[in-house]
Amino acid sequence: MIRLSGVSRTFDGRAGRVEALRGIDLDVAEGEFVAVLGRSGCGKSTLLRMVAGLLPVTAGEITVAGTPITRPRRDIAMLFQRPALLPWRSVLDNVLLPVEIFGWKRAKHRERARELLELAGLAGFEKRLPHELSGGMQQRVSLCRSLIGDPRVMLMDEPFSALDALTREELSGELQRVHMTSGATVVFVTHSIDEAVLLADRVVVLSPRPGRIRAIVDVDIPRPRTLGRNAHLADVARVSAELHELLMERDGPAGPVAPASAVTGVREPAPAGASAQGR
Ligand SMILES: Nc1ncnc2c1ncn2[C@@H]1O[C@H](COP(=O)(O)OP(=O)(O)O)[C@@H](O)[C@H]1O
Ligand SMILES: [Mg+2]
Repeated sequence: MIRLSGVSRTFDGRAGRVEALRGIDLDVAEGEFVAVLGRSGCGKSTLLRMVAGLLPVTAGEITVAGTPITRPRRDIAMLFQRPALLPWRSVLDNVLLPVEIFGWKRAKHRERARELLELAGLAGFEKRLPHELSGGMQQRVSLCRSLIGDPRVMLMDEPFSALDALTREELSGELQRVHMTSGATVVFVTHSIDEAVLLADRVVVLSPRPGRIRAIVDVDIPRPRTLGRNAHLADVARVSAELHELLMERDGPAGPVAPASAVTGVREPAPAGASAQGR
């Protein structure tokens, strides 16, 4: 569904050239939920903005459903860290914003918007203004807005990172349900191991400066998942520990790239593995 081949991005600024990402190869299957995990500054937002068509690549190519990405598309929705709601518009009218922008049929989408708001636990809040809602509720409204066009692809840039831990877990649960019912392909950027383990089919671990794929970890844990006590607690802990080690690894000549582990299904991507041996 989403294919990145040899994608690189550099920025030329007053302070010189920043190589944000180098040689990213990644395939995301239709309906798959992929988390991109990495420390701040390792190029996660850059990666997502390029897939969204908001930022051109410096090298390589990105295709979605076989078509190269050159600008934003209506079948690709993006959710940012901050809710970015229009303060003077009601909750319902915020959810309906894309309908106006793209000129879709309002009556049909109005029903859908109400349905989404109800699913998100916001029934009865349709007429409220954003400032009357908590941060978590505002981000739920954003989530509804990104779902209104029934996107095939959802790109999410640390959408829950400004929320408190419990709200974050609640929203993660809602996102799991949305994903299971909508069948959309999701790329979810995060610096949180917990979020990655809770949500993803696969976790792409990025190493910093320049951002490269360090490892791709399969998360083979049945859904719905929780971080609390449950039958799969041991699996959650094991995958979390693996991701923690991958994130903590130092870069540089001495640093190993990824401990290949049959247990957790860590796969070293070929280019990263090959270059690690050569340096
Ligand atoms: N518009 C820009 N101009 C210059 N440098 C940028 C720009 N956007 C991002 N960068 C740089 O690219 C690197 C990756 O940034 P970013 O993708 O925001 O990382 P992350 O989202 O993982 O925190 C950082 O070093 C950042 O300073
Ligand atoms: Mg970012």
